[in-house]
Amino acid sequence: MEKRNELYRGKAKTVYTTDDPSRLVLEFRNDTSAFDGEKVEQLEDKGMVNNRFNHFIMTQLENAGIPTQLDELLSDTESLVKKLDMIPVECVVRNVAAGSLVRRLGVEEGKTLNPPTFEFFLKNDALHDPMVNEYHIEAFGWATKDQIAQMKELTFKVNSVLKSLFEQAGLLLVDYKLEFGVFDGQLVLGDEFTPDGCRLWDADTREKLDKDRFRQGLGGVVEAYKEVGQRLGVKFS
Ligand code: C5P
Repeated sequence: MEKRNELYRGKAKTVYTTDDPSRLVLEFRNDTSAFDGEKVEQLEDKGMVNNRFNHFIMTQLENAGIPTQLDELLSDTESLVKKLDMIPVECVVRNVAAGSLVRRLGVEEGKTLNPPTFEFFLKNDALHDPMVNEYHIEAFGWATKDQIAQMKELTFKVNSVLKSLFEQAGLLLVDYKLEFGVFDGQLVLGDEFTPDGCRLWDADTREKLDKDRFRQGLGGVVEAYKEVGQRLGVKFS
């Protein structure tokens, strides 16, 4: 496999083509952004930590029968992935109230949600990723009814796998965002699963160990990501 040209540069990752049209290289950079790119900083080691963290989690999910985009770890900061036709929506499951849910509904942060909630957001920076529902997704052709049902089912399956994985490491999976795409006609989990796209709290102290440390200027961002990874047994170089 040969890495070729830059295809797309996102806020934290760069995607490259390869000599195989069905495969891409994902490069995790040190760039960290929040508030639609208003706050951007370079955090040393974050690319390596997120690449290795993502590889660990995606492997756990594959082993649990969830199809993922990930093929293999290529280097500290790069992974080989399948080229998906991405569905332009984000799937968010929440086990505990935090973030935009607290702001939107005026509920108390930290309240356990029973049952966990599910939300779709449209991926559109200019519109600040507005919340959409299944009717919007189907009517505008962003996904089919069947794909919508599968995205929900897989996102909840990820919850049951990861909630217990994190619980065993003394961590509370507060919420997370997933993105899906289509590969060879099959719905596949794409993008990444790292502390950049989920909320993780220490189960006892409720200390925030995710990107909220960056959003809220709490410091120790990469240290917290490493702490989470080490508790799970992720190997960082
Ligand atoms: O901001 P909000 O509370 O809606 O985020 C819910 C979850 O989805 C959080 O874990 C957040 O990190 C993640 N998220 C994300 N990318 C976005 C929006 C939310 O990773 N564009």
